Amino acid sequence: MENYTVTILGCGVMGTAVLSSMLKSSFEPFPQKFICCTGSSRSAEKLKTAYGDRIEVSYGSQNVEAVRKADIIILGCKPYMCEHIMDSVADGLNGKQLIISLLAGWTIDQLKTFSPYIARVMTNTPAKYGCGMAIVSFSEEAMKYEDIVMKMVGTVGKAKKLPESNMDAATSLVGSGPAFCLVMMEALAEGGVRMGIPYDVAKECAAKVMEGTARMVMETGEHPEVLKASVCTPGGTTIGGLMVMEDKAVRSGISRAVEEAAKIASALGKK
Ligand SMILES: NC(=O)c1ccc[n+]([C@@H]2O[C@H](COP(=O)([O-])OP(=O)(O)OC[C@H]3O[C@@H](n4cnc5c(N)ncnc54)[C@H](OP(=O)(O)O)[C@@H]3O)[C@@H](O)[C@H]2O)c1
Repeated sequence: MENYTVTILGCGVMGTAVLSSMLKSSFEPFPQKFICCTGSSRSAEKLKTAYGDRIEVSYGSQNVEAVRKADIIILGCKPYMCEHIMDSVADGLNGKQLIISLLAGWTIDQLKTFSPYIARVMTNTPAKYGCGMAIVSFSEEAMKYEDIVMKMVGTVGKAKKLPESNMDAATSLVGSGPAFCLVMMEALAEGGVRMGIPYDVAKECAAKVMEGTARMVMETGEHPEVLKASVCTPGGTTIGGLMVMEDKAVRSGISRAVEEAAKIASALGKK
């Protein structure tokens, strides 16, 4: 693919996160043009103010033209709006465009009504800060675009390819995962506050502890169990705290939260 145009159909929280990551990067071949589509002129103007000449914007009935110009369409609207929005731009679809869908719940088979070339992506809000995670599945026809899609999506932080059968679990682990981590972070900070640390400092400590721990796992490649054992002094503070966590079933509570969110994601796809 060369000198190609990327149209982001629905450029809100996730669409903007992917757009800014791509604009900060320099993967090759880099798109020649980005067109960002919204529902309202107000959102389109906001995008123009933020990104200036690096993008074109479009809204409402202009979106059909923006889709016609696209070689790649990034779908970033709300899942329940997708059918209506795709109907409204149907004249711009030519059956050859690669569609990269960020939508929860929409399966590759459902998306194939718009084009045979589908990459289904689940990413998350940390993408806004360049440390997002993305899971990508492809329709068979879209496999020829794997390289460019992985480069593009990888700009959010990290991207991995998995079969679509894992997408509900990815929707939970990757998409909802930040909310689960935030509850853990909140709980850590509140424990500190309970023991007298001022809230702002406790929050910073909790965030840095989570960031540092994540980096340690990524850099060593060790199983978390090994790293955990290495900070447990016999008879010490950490093992005492961990035993309370086991008594309160914190571990299974978190794992079951991932399971529950994945079940809900699966039901979304069947609607
Ligand atoms: N947010 C998350 O944490 C998260 C995580 C993982 C996956 N996702 C997925 O990402 C997708 C987008 O979610 P989001 O949170 O980014 O939604 P959002 O912020 O509400 O963005 C939706 C975008 O669609 C635009 N839109 C509305 N009507 C349109 C129309 N007729 N034509 C073209 N564009 C139109 C909106 O423009 P206006 O502002 O003008 O209405 C807005 O730019 C969802 O499918 C969701 O499943 C989100």
